[in-house]
Amino acid sequence: MDLKSAARAVRENAYAPYSHYKVGAAVRGASGLIYAGCNVENVAYPEGTCAEAGAIAAMVAAGETEITEVCVIADSPTPASPCGGCRQKLAEFARGEVTVLLATIDGPEQMVTVADLLPGAFATSHMGRDGA
Ligand code: THU
Repeated sequence: MDLKSAARAVRENAYAPYSHYKVGAAVRGASGLIYAGCNVENVAYPEGTCAEAGAIAAMVAAGETEITEVCVIADSPTPASPCGGCRQKLAEFARGEVTVLLATIDGPEQMVTVADLLPGAFATSHMGRDGA
């Protein structure tokens, strides 16, 4: 299955009774496998989680930490746009040149990179050292 089909399919399972805005995300790991996630809302609104976070969690749970491709899809008039927190989450596991397909169910789509989404991303280099 291709990345967009995976994102479109998992979006069907989104739990979004409050916003009614269902989002699907799929990331490809370095192994070539695809990991999918949908948004899961909560009556205590801040406890909800984004589709991208779900896809990333599934990838990490499977033992992978390198994203090679991303797709996010929503039923919106303009291409799905990852929130700020998700942009940082993607940047944790994807190099700047990794492509992100921002899609709609039957409308326009846009191809960008992780670096486009988060210019000047906070990284370990900003702490003056190489890692944790
Ligand atoms: N949402 C995502 O799943 N990903 C994003 O990057 C943007 C927003 C979800 C969160 C919430 O369930 C709904 O969309 C409306 O904000």
